[in-house]
Amino acid sequence: MRAAVITRPGGPEVLAIEQRPDPEAGPAEVLVRVRASALNRADLLQREGHYPAPPGWPPDIPGMEFAGEIAAIGARVTEWRVGDRVFGIAGGGANAELLVIDGACVARVPDQLSWTDAASIPEAFITAHDAMIVQAELRAGESVLIHAVGSGVGLAATQLARAWRATPCGTARTAEKIERARTLGLADGLTVASNLEVIAAAVEEWTRGRGIDVTLDLVGGDYLPASIAAAAPRGRIMLIGTVAGRSATVSVGAILRKRLTLRGTVLRARSLDEKRAATALFARDVVPLFASGVLRPTVDSVYDLDQIRAAHERLASNATFGKVVLRVA
Ligand SMILES: NC(=O)c1ccc[n+]([C@@H]2O[C@H](COP(=O)([O-])OP(=O)(O)OC[C@H]3O[C@@H](n4cnc5c(N)ncnc54)[C@H](OP(=O)(O)O)[C@@H]3O)[C@@H](O)[C@H]2O)c1
Repeated sequence: MRAAVITRPGGPEVLAIEQRPDPEAGPAEVLVRVRASALNRADLLQREGHYPAPPGWPPDIPGMEFAGEIAAIGARVTEWRVGDRVFGIAGGGANAELLVIDGACVARVPDQLSWTDAASIPEAFITAHDAMIVQAELRAGESVLIHAVGSGVGLAATQLARAWRATPCGTARTAEKIERARTLGLADGLTVASNLEVIAAAVEEWTRGRGIDVTLDLVGGDYLPASIAAAAPRGRIMLIGTVAGRSATVSVGAILRKRLTLRGTVLRARSLDEKRAATALFARDVVPLFASGVLRPTVDSVYDLDQIRAAHERLASNATFGKVVLRVA
């Protein structure tokens, strides 16, 4: 098979397309002929040598999500047939023509979705659904604040919040992203620069003084104290990304007074059973909303597999709105 390979730690120039032996499905696994994959921040970190793939996944082939057809089935897999259209998340290895994955870590792709649209969905929507709906237990009528709202996860969270009859608000450093996010259901948005104290003031106005019930912090660093300042009593703050920094100084007093919940989350390092559970909830609660048109894929750009260097550069530019997708076969 053809695969994108990280030949050594470094910039986009260390990526190459190489021939690799075809993988084979074990008894509980399926072999997927990958038609499209999508990029994530973790791929950039892995390429730089800062975020190795978890044990059991190809160490040098990036790619954490895919859409494709089932090409072979392990002896113990009963729910899939060769030719079924599936998508899902992987610990790595999805930027290749073939991928082996547990048979319960794939979901059926709705008929109307193209391969490139389908590949843009799993990581962003599973992350947003798991953090906001499953862990933070978002309820109808609540407010949500999403930092980096024009990101893949941010736009997924915006749409899911609407679908759950909550009110999504967001921040971005680019005014155009706020405007475009409104077309996907963003109720209120704020363009931020270095002064993040403006966030609490804007939230005060948006929520008529109540504050935010559920915050998805996709950037970290100084956004955490800003999220604490903007939170409603008993608010839940989900820490999901660290692109703005891995540490912050926070007011412990404010966390106590407001009785806040702060919770960190990652998908990639979870156990197989946890990934099966997240995929099952995605298939049950999220995928049907794509079939019915309530949710829409948000594709920023599409590159061919052999343009993977340019795809990495596009993601790292911070200019993206939604997902960078790789057309594989
Ligand atoms: N925990 C998990 O399991 C998990 C899973 C998936 C993703 N993530 C994390 O979730 C975040 C979003 O992922 P994604 O793939 O959706 O991202 P993405 O599409 O690549 O978008 C990230 C956006 O963040 C903004 N940004 C970058 N650096 C920033 C900074 N220093 N300060 C403020 N904003 C900054 C940029 O938009 P603007 O500056 O224009 O607003 C950028 O376009 C990332 O941090 C990623 O690592 C975590």
